[in-house]
Amino acid sequence: MSKNDHIVVLTGAGISVESGLDTFRGNFGLWGQHKVEDIATPEAFATQPELVHKFYNQRRQQLKKVQPNPAHVALATLEKNWPGKITLITQNVDDLHERAGSTQLIHMHGKLSEARCIQSGTVFPCEENLDTDSLCECCQVKGNLRPNIVWFGEYPFGMSEIFTALDQADQFWSIGTSAHVYPAGGFAQHVLMNRKDARMIECNTENSQISHLFPERHEGPASQTVTKLVDSILEEL
Ligand code: OAD
Repeated sequence: MSKNDHIVVLTGAGISVESGLDTFRGNFGLWGQHKVEDIATPEAFATQPELVHKFYNQRRQQLKKVQPNPAHVALATLEKNWPGKITLITQNVDDLHERAGSTQLIHMHGKLSEARCIQSGTVFPCEENLDTDSLCECCQVKGNLRPNIVWFGEYPFGMSEIFTALDQADQFWSIGTSAHVYPAGGFAQHVLMNRKDARMIECNTENSQISHLFPERHEGPASQTVTKLVDSILEEL
């Protein structure tokens, strides 16, 4: 390890569990309670916008009741104190990383706190509920606002920046993600193909789809494993 290492961190729903947010898969996951095709596709929004808005409104409201946990805080501390570059890529649509203090952050699946006009693509801050009567500020048409979330079949945000970072990664950390969803599920493999000496670390409570790619695994809740990992790496400086 060198103190100039570029550390690329990928986070998933598991990092927000201890803040009180649900994961997608597993026994109590969101995709066990709702069908993905009813909620998280452009087709669902075209045919049942009320249902889609209801799902994301509930999740947006939930953000007001939760706080970043020690794992989010540890990653913000890492960004502040690490002499090399840090790129934090999250699949999460919550705002817990930024509330913990992370600034070098790519929300590849979008953000609950934003709405987007389906005609112009303009993005607006969105703290309150959306519905089919919500008036779009740019085109003044009701129903033109959608959550600024990447749905299945859509291209994630920030991919060019993400692949630039992956191509330079000296360390790749995968935290709280099952790696079921691509392209994020393929990032570890991409790093290994291009940077075969990269330090590969996974933090998860259980095995993911891609655990075999990580010689270094920290099993347990992210609040403990990530905090320990960040402490140890900063102590080595
Ligand atoms: P998943 O629900 O697929 O996986 C959550 C992961 O977190 C699992 O591997 C759990 O073992 C792990 N986990 C649970 N509790 C944890 C804890 N306290 N500490 C550490 N790990 C823990 O969520 P994602 O991998 O984020 O996309 O899902 C990826 C994408 O699938 C989401 O961004 C979403 C979803 O469909 C869209 O909506 C586009």
